[in-house]
Amino acid sequence: MIPAIDFSAPSRFASLPPRSSERFARPRVAPSPHGEQVRTEDGRELVLRPIEAGDVAAMQRCFTRLSPEDIRRRFLHAMSELPAPMAQRLCRIDPALETAYVLMDESVQPAEMRGVGRIYVDEAIDSAEFSVLVEQDWSRLGLGALLMQRLVDDSRRRGLGELWGYVLLENRPMLQLCRELGFVQRMMPDEPGTALITLKL
Ligand SMILES: CC(C)(COP(=O)(O)OP(=O)(O)OC[C@H]1O[C@@H](n2cnc3c(N)ncnc32)[C@H](O)[C@@H]1OP(=O)(O)O)[C@@H](O)C(=O)NCCC(=O)NCCS
Repeated sequence: MIPAIDFSAPSRFASLPPRSSERFARPRVAPSPHGEQVRTEDGRELVLRPIEAGDVAAMQRCFTRLSPEDIRRRFLHAMSELPAPMAQRLCRIDPALETAYVLMDESVQPAEMRGVGRIYVDEAIDSAEFSVLVEQDWSRLGLGALLMQRLVDDSRRRGLGELWGYVLLENRPMLQLCRELGFVQRMMPDEPGTALITLKL
C-alpha cells in the first residue's frame, strides 16, 4: 500500500510512485547526481542516487541478504556468491551505455544497499535491457516501481526506442509490476520458463 502524496507541498523527499491506478498521472522527476531522500510509508528513509565505484562492499553485503529465489529471479540462474570482479564491474559503470540507481540505507553504519535498478544500452538495436532488485525487507513499499520509473525516464532521455528485460514466468511480482508500468509480455519459444518484457518508449 502506497500513501497518497501531496504534490502541492514542497518536500525534500523524492515521492514514491502512487498506486498503480494513478501511476501514469504523476509528473516525472529528474534524478539528481547528489541523491534524493525517499521515505517509505512505514517511516524508513533511503537515499536514491546513481551507483558509485565505491559501492562494491555494500553490494556484496546486499547479495548475502538475498534469498536463493531473489538471486535466481534477478540473475536468471542460481549463484552462491557475488564474486568481487563482478561486483566491481556492476558498480563501475560506463555512463555512455549504462545507468544504475541504488537505494542506500544510511540509517546504519556502514550504509547498506537495499535496492538497485540498472539499464544497459544496446546502441545497435536502439534499446536497453533493464534489471531491478529490492531487498525483501523493503519490498511492497513502491521501491521497485520507483526504480523502474527512473529507468524508463532515463531511457527516454537517452532517446531509446525500447526498454526490455527477461523475467521468469514464476516471478509474479515483477510481471505484475511491469504490467502496471505498461510493459508488454511475450513468450520466448526457446526459453520456456522466461518471458520477454518490453516497453516502447
Ligand atoms: C520484483 C521486485 C523488484 C518488486 O519490488 P517491490 O519494491 O516489492 O515492488 P513495489 O513495491 O514497487 O510494487 C509495485 C507493484 O508490483 C506488484 N507487486 C510487487 N510485489 C508483489 C507481490 N509480492 N505480489 C503481487 N504483486 C506484487 C504490485 O502490483 C505492486 O503495486 P501495488 O503495491 O500498488 O499493488 C522485488 O520483489 C525483487 O527485487 N525481486 C527479486 C529480483 C527480481 O525479481 N527482479 C526482477 C527481474 S530483473
